[in-house]
Amino acid sequence: MRSVDDLDVRGRRVLLRCDLNVPLDLTGTGEITDDGRIRASLPVIRKLSDRGARVIVLAHLGRPKGATFDERAAGGPSLRPVAARLGELLGRPVALAADVAGPSAGDTASGLADGDVALGENVRFEPAETSKDDPERAELARTWARLGELYVGDGFGAVHRKHASVYDLPALLPHAAGDLVLEEVAVLRQLTTDPARPFVVVLGGKKPSDKLAVIGNLLNLADRILICGGMGYTFLAARGCEVGNSVLEADQIPAVKAVMTDAERRGVELVLPVDLVVATHFAPDAEHAVVPVTEIPPDWEGMDAGPRTRELFAAKLADAKTVFWNGPAGVFEFPAFAAGTRAVAEAISRVDALTVVGGGDSAAAIRALGIGEDAFGHVSTGGGASLEYLEGKALPGLVALEADP
Ligand code: 3PG
Repeated sequence: MRSVDDLDVRGRRVLLRCDLNVPLDLTGTGEITDDGRIRASLPVIRKLSDRGARVIVLAHLGRPKGATFDERAAGGPSLRPVAARLGELLGRPVALAADVAGPSAGDTASGLADGDVALGENVRFEPAETSKDDPERAELARTWARLGELYVGDGFGAVHRKHASVYDLPALLPHAAGDLVLEEVAVLRQLTTDPARPFVVVLGGKKPSDKLAVIGNLLNLADRILICGGMGYTFLAARGCEVGNSVLEADQIPAVKAVMTDAERRGVELVLPVDLVVATHFAPDAEHAVVPVTEIPPDWEGMDAGPRTRELFAAKLADAKTVFWNGPAGVFEFPAFAAGTRAVAEAISRVDALTVVGGGDSAAAIRALGIGEDAFGHVSTGGGASLEYLEGKALPGLVALEADP
């Protein structure tokens, strides 16, 4: 892949795809609760701007699924708060076009001076961005291509999406990968190419159905896989535990059992929680208790890893030489149920190894818990993207950047 350093950008309009998909406060204030992805995009924006490029940033926010500008008027996910935050971080205003690839985006692009930075509106307001119909996506990409002269792909968190701004647009313009994409790929390549051993993987988060494919491939790579968080309950159920009202994907139990058998056959250790913090219901102030995994009360639900599990996981991580962690160990957003995620994060931060935190939720968790990012070797901006890379899939955004410009 070519890098930005290979492009002559001075005075040229550069369409820069970033992943600025930040979490917004859901209580209605619309405030950005974690600006990590905006911060992660600053280096490439600054580099292009400092070199005299006219930068038009393309990005998505949320999943407005065929939303129209009417939805935006009704408070849909406009990039307005992102433009404001980006401007604060850059120390100068960032104009936001009123549309994605229409007249306003055109005027914004043509009004840029060397070094200026502007943002197009949420690319997912255009249904063609995410369309499964190749010609429909290509049409939108052609419209964008008329606004710019060069393309830089730096939205690592979206490279697993076959979307117009990620996959189709780079084929139409001379292009390069941004530094964030190059760095993320270099780290993930280290995990998949002869990692230092033991290689320990910690997987949490809600659904096993989202992660079974990656576990399947990780069985070829990892020495130990620690399972926690919401997906852990389906694994416990597959081992015969009654999980009460905990999140359960009952239809995944056969697939989970198959993974367990496969792990045993390959000599990969699968480590499950041994105790849990359970609560009467899903609320920050719910009555809660610590129980062994075999004694979850029928009408209670699992909310976090218990103290013995935290110790067990720390012990299983202690000798690791490579660690990949994706997905929280509990409902860390509620302080009463954050201890498991904190314990996993702290145990990983103590290990003398290449440690990689993969993904939006886990990255947001460490920041929310006040654990410095520098306690880890690499904090990825891409959850789904890093998992699909580890799954061994070809990622459309990377395929497009690798192709000859
Ligand atoms: C993410 O949040 O993982 C990326 O921004 C991609 O978003 P998506 O899952 O909605 O495509």
